[in-house]
Amino acid sequence: RAIYSRGLAAKQPQVPTDYAALEARAERCMSAQAFAYIAGGAGREDTVARNRSAFGQWQIVPQMLRDVGERDTSITLFGQRLPSPFLLSPVGVLEMAHPDADLAVARAAAAARVPYIFSNQASRPMETCAAAMGDAPRWFQLYWSKSDALVKSLVQRAEGSGCSAIVVTLDTTLLGWRSRDLDLGYLPFLRGRGIAQYTSDPVFLDSLDEPLPAGAQDVRPPVNLHTLRAVLQAARAFPGGTLAGLRSGRALAAVRRFIATYSRPTLTWENLAFLREHTRLPVLLKGVLDPDDARRALDHGVDGLIVSNHGGRQVDGAVSTIEQLPRIRDAVAGRLPLILDSGVRGGADAFKALALGATAVGIGRPYCYGLAIAGEAGVGEVIANLRADFELTMALAGCRSISEVTPERLRADAAVS
Ligand code: FNR
Repeated sequence: RAIYSRGLAAKQPQVPTDYAALEARAERCMSAQAFAYIAGGAGREDTVARNRSAFGQWQIVPQMLRDVGERDTSITLFGQRLPSPFLLSPVGVLEMAHPDADLAVARAAAAARVPYIFSNQASRPMETCAAAMGDAPRWFQLYWSKSDALVKSLVQRAEGSGCSAIVVTLDTTLLGWRSRDLDLGYLPFLRGRGIAQYTSDPVFLDSLDEPLPAGAQDVRPPVNLHTLRAVLQAARAFPGGTLAGLRSGRALAAVRRFIATYSRPTLTWENLAFLREHTRLPVLLKGVLDPDDARRALDHGVDGLIVSNHGGRQVDGAVSTIEQLPRIRDAVAGRLPLILDSGVRGGADAFKALALGATAVGIGRPYCYGLAIAGEAGVGEVIANLRADFELTMALAGCRSISEVTPERLRADAAVS
């Protein structure tokens, strides 16, 4: 209601409610490289486009005369009551979008009590964000590093920071072929305090004095002007600032070690047992798109799945998430909660995902754009707009609560089904 009254009074919101306008305004607030990094996808960006267009394959069939005067958009996830079916998906290197970075997102998420999934590549240590969130819900996203000791340390830090779930991202064992970034000759993850989640980790810092793991010795960041600038900025992440960091050579060592160890392409299902040994928190797998993988996840005692193609940033031509969701729903048959992300831009998208079996949806780029435009307030507005849009869609479709958002409320587009 507040959003409408403001709109009717012609008071300009800080953050446009229309997604195209949101993206366009954010582009004006960022460097060309930062915008390319956030907006871009893999290859020809077919999957980025498909993530959007595939929602069009489903149409909502509203029901009338259902007394929707009282609406309840709350859900329960891993025993936690949440006010809405939205989460903030993990996004790395947020300092590219705004100097307040993860901290601004943490504050906005906490105010809305929307769970924030801290990225393993965050620009701010998880402890800093957690301290700003009180008892508001947060999770931690892990990139499984080549070092078991580092994996263990990150998971322990997440538990100590009050995270209530661990999300293992599986689709980024290698970085996708991202033309926009490649053409700008840019290493975005080294920018600013881009690797502060690592440089605040005692195990990571200790490892700087050790030889790089086998097979990783030859990994060097390509040295060009962009790299040098990035390394200088990365040095700021160290206590003592740029000069001390550079003098000790630790900034360059950290960048090198980060590149050499942050992911483990040899990971298999068998590795998951290690995580089970080291945490009692629910473990979710992010990036699952194949129903067979969903069944394997069940066999391996996983607690939830995030059906995601990383916002179309990894495999160009990968299937869209909304198209795979019904297949994955059938494979897990209600035994695991499913969260969908990649392409969610409005209330109708969330409604369709929930009707097709998701418990909740995650958003990535929309909140990055809110952050770029207006920091914490911008993220808050993006969240508020999405929630209001979803509540209206739900009510106008004749649903009083999430339990009434069922497959019967959708019809597959005859032209494509
Ligand atoms: C991401 N994503 C991501 N995922 C993850 O598990 N760890 C990470 O550090 C990042 N970093 C990241 C950076 C940027 C700039 C983007 C846009 C995305 C993927 C993210 O969690 C999510 O899956 C997608 O963003 C969802 O798609 P939409 O909402 O952006 O279309």
